[in-house]
Amino acid sequence: MNKIMIAPSILSADFTRLGAEIKDVEKAGADWIHVDVMDGHFVPNITMGPLVVRSIRPVTSIPIDVHLMIKNPQEYVETFAKAGSDIITFHIEVEENPKEIVKLIKYFKKKAGVSIKPKTDITAIRPLLNMVDLVLVMSVEPGFAGQGFMPECLGKIEELRKVFKKDIEVDGGINADTARDVIKSGANVLVAGTSVFGEKDYAAAIKKLRG
Ligand code: DX5
Ligand code: ZN
Repeated sequence: MNKIMIAPSILSADFTRLGAEIKDVEKAGADWIHVDVMDGHFVPNITMGPLVVRSIRPVTSIPIDVHLMIKNPQEYVETFAKAGSDIITFHIEVEENPKEIVKLIKYFKKKAGVSIKPKTDITAIRPLLNMVDLVLVMSVEPGFAGQGFMPECLGKIEELRKVFKKDIEVDGGINADTARDVIKSGANVLVAGTSVFGEKDYAAAIKKLRG
């Protein structure tokens, strides 16, 4: 059994006090800090870049989990690696050579993840499964925090768990109820924006997600 880990997404944090928010979730038991990078092309929203990763690196000792929702991830792997990312995940739907991207992430000695959007089948990532450390299954259309969980992802997680023994991460609409379902299906890393940063008591919120 893989360890259940909670990765609060700072997209839902209070950006006027980002450092303090990160320290607070770390103290509250977060396992990773999830950073949602959006470019306005791959998804219809723009968020943060390597500068933010570099700024938050010194304030936390837990892994920084970077989710690249950008059109040309290969171009930015080096910058995000050098900024202090521990895990770099890109989307299979981009028009670049995915094996090359994984090799580049590994070259910088980072953990490599590949992600699939809700409408993408797991067959798309089959050729990468023996190369990556993590698969991120999106349970909402990427772009915004606070959306409703799409239960269609559960079957994909189950299928994937049969053939992939490393970390399976789920992202979007995770709360205490959906957390139970995704864990049951075989996921072990839960990204949570609203259901952590939207709560008063971060420790209680994280504990609830762990089940
Ligand atoms: C969506 C992002 C998610 C998002 C999760 O595109 O990748 O990480 O911040 O937010 P919640 O947990 O609120 O759905
Ligand atoms: Zn994300």
